[in-house]
Amino acid sequence: MMLLLLLLLLLLLPPAPAAPSPESVAAVNPCCYFPCQNKGVCVRFGLHQYECDCTRTGYHGRNCTSPEFWTWLRNALRPSPAFYHYILTHGRWFWDLINGTFIRDFLMRLVLTVRANRIPSPPTYNSAYGYISWEAYANVTYYTRVLPPVPDDCPTPMGVKGRKRLPDPGLLAERFLLRKSFVRDPQGTNLLFAFFAQHFTHQFFKTSGKMGRGFTKALGHGVDLGHVYGDSLERQHKLRLFKGGKLKHQVLNGEVYPPTVMETRANMTYPPGVPLHRQLAVGQEVFGLLPGLMVFATLWLREHNRVCDVLQAEHPSWADEQLFQTARLILIGETIKIVIEDYVQHLSGYHLRLKFDPELLFGVQFQYRNRIAVEFNQLYHWHPLMPDSFVVGDREYSYEEFVFNTSMLLDYGVESLVDAFSRQPAGQIGGGGNINRHILHVAIGVIEESRELRLQSFNEYRKRFGLKPYKSFQELTGEQEKASELQELYGDIDALEFYPGLLLEKCQPNAIFGESMVEIGAPFSLKGLLGNPVCSPEYWKPSTFGGETGFNIVKTASLRKLVCANVKTCPYVAFHVPAPAPGERPREPSSEL
Ligand code: HEM
Ligand SMILES: *[C@@H]1O[C@H](CO)[C@@H](O)[C@H](O)[C@H]1NC(C)=O
Ligand SMILES: *[C@@H]1O[C@H](CO)[C@@H](O)[C@H](O)[C@H]1NC(C)=O
Ligand SMILES: *[C@@H]1O[C@H](CO)[C@@H](O)[C@H](O)[C@H]1NC(C)=O
Ligand SMILES: *[C@@H]1O[C@H](CO)[C@@H](O)[C@H](O)[C@H]1NC(C)=O
Ligand SMILES: *[C@@H]1O[C@H](CO)[C@@H](O)[C@H](O)[C@H]1NC(C)=O
Repeated sequence: MMLLLLLLLLLLLPPAPAAPSPESVAAVNPCCYFPCQNKGVCVRFGLHQYECDCTRTGYHGRNCTSPEFWTWLRNALRPSPAFYHYILTHGRWFWDLINGTFIRDFLMRLVLTVRANRIPSPPTYNSAYGYISWEAYANVTYYTRVLPPVPDDCPTPMGVKGRKRLPDPGLLAERFLLRKSFVRDPQGTNLLFAFFAQHFTHQFFKTSGKMGRGFTKALGHGVDLGHVYGDSLERQHKLRLFKGGKLKHQVLNGEVYPPTVMETRANMTYPPGVPLHRQLAVGQEVFGLLPGLMVFATLWLREHNRVCDVLQAEHPSWADEQLFQTARLILIGETIKIVIEDYVQHLSGYHLRLKFDPELLFGVQFQYRNRIAVEFNQLYHWHPLMPDSFVVGDREYSYEEFVFNTSMLLDYGVESLVDAFSRQPAGQIGGGGNINRHILHVAIGVIEESRELRLQSFNEYRKRFGLKPYKSFQELTGEQEKASELQELYGDIDALEFYPGLLLEKCQPNAIFGESMVEIGAPFSLKGLLGNPVCSPEYWKPSTFGGETGFNIVKTASLRKLVCANVKTCPYVAFHVPAPAPGERPREPSSEL
């Protein structure tokens, strides 16, 4: 009797999670194994069958693993990313020789085409569509994505590899991402760079609060300067003066600043209780967050109005609208120039002098379009750049004093803040353990988002961007301790997630981050910059920018000019800290907060 009862009980109990017996493995969606290599596309047939579409991958065979002859040859000759990174970052004298020659143009064209070709264009998938579809193409409220989501009927969150449950995001952040002591970036990156990065990228990273993760409010999908002009026509009109093409502004202490929300009714995101006459109104709603963002917002506002004066002097017949629109195109061009020749130049550490010249691509096939990818958004969470406190003048400000501070910009003025931010070192982004406690929650959010959107594993992204998948956590981190802990938590290197992989990868020697951030980030970045319509043969000519004068403003733009054309006295301005004078210690905040 007892035995019978027990048997009954056993029958009624839910079955234990099936150990992968041959049949149950066969019942799994075969695409969960990510069988198709080299960009082959997995299509499920029946229940247990799949086919890899290897069209134009340069490979064939069931899993697109057999190279065609030319593919094989190219692979055999192609240097590894680590190799050419070494070459590009060493031998200054050699690169100074190259600088003045046609070889510079040749290499720059190579960099642009090889990188940009890694990005599918037109875009392919999004977080709701893991196959090509008209909806994914046409509905631009989605961020696109380069790799489709992990199918939602897979045995594990990463497909078939790793544990059934991923490690707790809070635990990952505390254990591997939280800063214990500030690690400064060995490339000498400063806070001005960090705020530029944040300011620049927040024109196209505007994850929609209402629609949820995977959706964006920045429908321009690129460098449209929506952070200066607003992401809708309605907001743009609130910010415009409708005189001489200019933007609204106010003059305080004899200097031009953004207008207030009180005046413009262009709402900003501030904590409750900040009165509207203290809120500065700019294109991007969140830029009240940091004085560093408001500094750049102010600089671009002044630049816009300055360019309007230049245009108006040459075109007294032009109406407000044409002055505004032409100034906007000039500022877009200036931005791209500064991002390539100052910002990316610094970040890359390359001795090859990068060149912004759209004509480099006029002889090759290139699509002038861009769509912002969710992977690019994830990857750009560079919060380790932020220090533990902010040094301005002879004072040190805590996060509590700095974040949402409405008076600092006006108290110090643009010059002093640019000078201060240019002198203070930023944190190293890669290598882990370098995010200040105040912003650790943002990193947790990134990991949560990647799970909600079912991002594929770090190693799948490595492969997609032409890198070898890591074989072990030791190989990833270059050490033992964190590696074995990660192995314990994830169970398998092929189950490691995208963002933790990017941040925990060992850095390149004396560099700000590891190989994957460069090899995955650069394609998105360069495609977004050169894919802008102003770089197309139809637009890239003097008339687009109001004549040679405007065209020249674009072609000679620099960070230094952006600042110094718009302040009274030119401060120290660069994306790196000044070289310390002999015997002097570089300035760094003393205390940890
Ligand atoms: C003290 C400085 C900073 C603070 C307080 C801060 C705070 C935040 C917060 C609260 C979010 C929204 C998170 C969410 O909705 O889940 C966010 C998003 C983001 N942050 Fe930061 N951040 C800082 C610096 C930076 C820097 C220097 C970068 C460099 C690029 C950066 C890049 C991003 C990106 C790309 C996003 C995603 C934006 C989006 O998708 O809408 N942040 N940050
Ligand atoms: C294709 O990939 C699957 C899944 O990874 C694997 O089991 C199979 O052996 C591969 N077949 C060939 C011919 O490589
Ligand atoms: C490289 O060449 C440009 C002109 O093409 C020149 O202005 C610049 O100073 C040169 N830079 C170096 C490091 O030689
Ligand atoms: C885009 O897709 C979302 C989700 O299905 C939908 O809510 C939204 O209305 C679509 N937008 C457009 C412009 O069709
Ligand atoms: C701006 O904020 C005000 C007051 O908080 C609110 O009444 C108004 O609807 C908001 N306007 C927009 C366009 O969101
Ligand atoms: C904002 O910054 C100023 C310095 O410009 C400082 O005196 C003030 O205390 C800060 N405000 C807050 C609320 O911390």
